Amino acid sequence: MTIHKSVLLNEAISGLNLKPGDIFFDGTLGGGGHSKKVCELFGRSVKIVGTDRDSQAVRRATDKFEKLDCDFAFQTASFRNIDKILDNLNIKAVNGILLDLGLSSDQIEESSRGFTFQKDEPLVMTFSSESGELITAGIILNEWSEETLSDILFGYADERYARRIAKKIVERRQVKSIEKTFELVEIVKSAVPIGYRKGRIHFATKTFQAIRIAVNDEIEALKEGLAKGYERLVAGGKMAVISFHSGEDRIVKNFFKEKKMAGNGFATTKKPITASEEELGRNPRARSAKLRIFEKSKIDMGQNEK
Ligand SMILES: C[S@@+](CC[C@H](N)C(=O)[O-])C[C@H]1O[C@@H](n2cnc3c(N)ncnc32)[C@H](O)[C@@H]1O
Repeated sequence: MTIHKSVLLNEAISGLNLKPGDIFFDGTLGGGGHSKKVCELFGRSVKIVGTDRDSQAVRRATDKFEKLDCDFAFQTASFRNIDKILDNLNIKAVNGILLDLGLSSDQIEESSRGFTFQKDEPLVMTFSSESGELITAGIILNEWSEETLSDILFGYADERYARRIAKKIVERRQVKSIEKTFELVEIVKSAVPIGYRKGRIHFATKTFQAIRIAVNDEIEALKEGLAKGYERLVAGGKMAVISFHSGEDRIVKNFFKEKKMAGNGFATTKKPITASEEELGRNPRARSAKLRIFEKSKIDMGQNEK
């Protein structure tokens, strides 16, 4: 069972403008919501290739799709390896790509990997559900330098008290290693001014976001996924990206802009699409979501036929 509610579901799928005979790459399967929509609309006439770094998500989505009548190939992998994934399936190019970034509500609520400051869990924060990942939140918090911590907090989450929080993290770990989420919440609380503790968003939100992005190398994965994904789109194919914070959205916007300047296509969304009032009413998580869609130039440079 998945509790994740898909964000900008109709907007993303209709924006991709898929047709019977097409191949769709869902780089972030999660609860399988976007792919399920494609399956409902096209049945077996659109092939769905799906990946997620989280093997639990892939297993759940596979169970769900085995009961549906659709053509799918799911695997545990990062979308940054789209080239190898498609090579292994003997697919040269796809017609639509979706990247719905970040984490799913299933991971927040059920993974026990420390994604939320609302539950006292071990500081893991890996998208991958396999143990043995090289980097965890615990390693970053207990081993990385104060300067790097500060850079992450500022660079990945615009945390204005980055330096103060980084200093407190280092002070605390000299006394005892930092193991659980509530310890991190306490550290942040002790580092920020009282006014900030009472702000509209929880004072630990940005710290958790920044550490998660660092653990999963999300920025580099996105850059690689965009570049390799673009290469594997057919002429006239579309790429839709849903991002959840300004750092991600900036990367997507700039990537689409560069491609346009080089004459390689254009964004079909002049401004990012955001959630309607109706969607926000049933899913507050959609509040920060921004959808941008890019169409690759229709002139085939000779590279990508399926
Ligand atoms: C917001 S959820 C996707 C939800 C999905 N679109 C749905 O409607 O059910 C994001 C998912 O992307 C996965 N993810 C994040 N980065 C990834 C990457 N680089 N490669 C593959 N999956 C990734 C996460 O593990 C998570 O399950």
